[in-house]
Amino acid sequence: MSAYNTKVMEHFRNPQNVGYIENADGVGKVGNPVCGDIMELTIKVNDGKIADAKFRTFGCGAAIATSSMVTEMVKGKTIPEALAISNRAVAEALGGLPSIKMHCSVLAEQALKSAIEDYFAKHPEAGTPPPGIKAGDACAAPGGKCVLDTAKSAEGAR
Ligand code: FES
Repeated sequence: MSAYNTKVMEHFRNPQNVGYIENADGVGKVGNPVCGDIMELTIKVNDGKIADAKFRTFGCGAAIATSSMVTEMVKGKTIPEALAISNRAVAEALGGLPSIKMHCSVLAEQALKSAIEDYFAKHPEAGTPPPGIKAGDACAAPGGKCVLDTAKSAEGAR
C-alpha cells in the first residue's frame, strides 16, 4: 500500500502541465542535494498574471505531484498571489503528504519563486520585485540558497 493519499497518486500518475514553455517569461530550476531530485518550472506572464506554467521534474512521487499541483494553483494568479503560495499550501491542496515527504514540497515552492525571480530579472519593465522575493532567495541550480533551506527541511528524510 502506498504512503501517499489518492490525490497525490492521481497527480503522480497523471501529472498536469508537464513540459517546457518555449520563450518563457521566467524559468526556475532548483535541486535538492540530499536526494538529487531536480525541478524546473517555466511561466508565461500576461498583464501581471501567470497565464501558463509547466514543469519538468526528475524526482520522487511527491516531487512530481507537488510540481503538478503548483502549476495548477499558480495559473491565473497575480505575481504577489503566486509568491504567497507556500510549500504547505501545495501539500494541503494535495490532501497532505507524509511528514518525511514534506521537504519535496519545498522544491515546488522554490522552483516557483526562482521562476518569478527570473521573470523580474528578464523584465525590468515589470518593476521592482515585491516583498517576498529578493536576490538570493531563489537558486538557479544546486548550490544556491534554496538548496540549503531544502536540505534543512529534509531532516529525517531518506
Ligand atoms: Fe527528493 Fe522527494 S524531492 S525525495
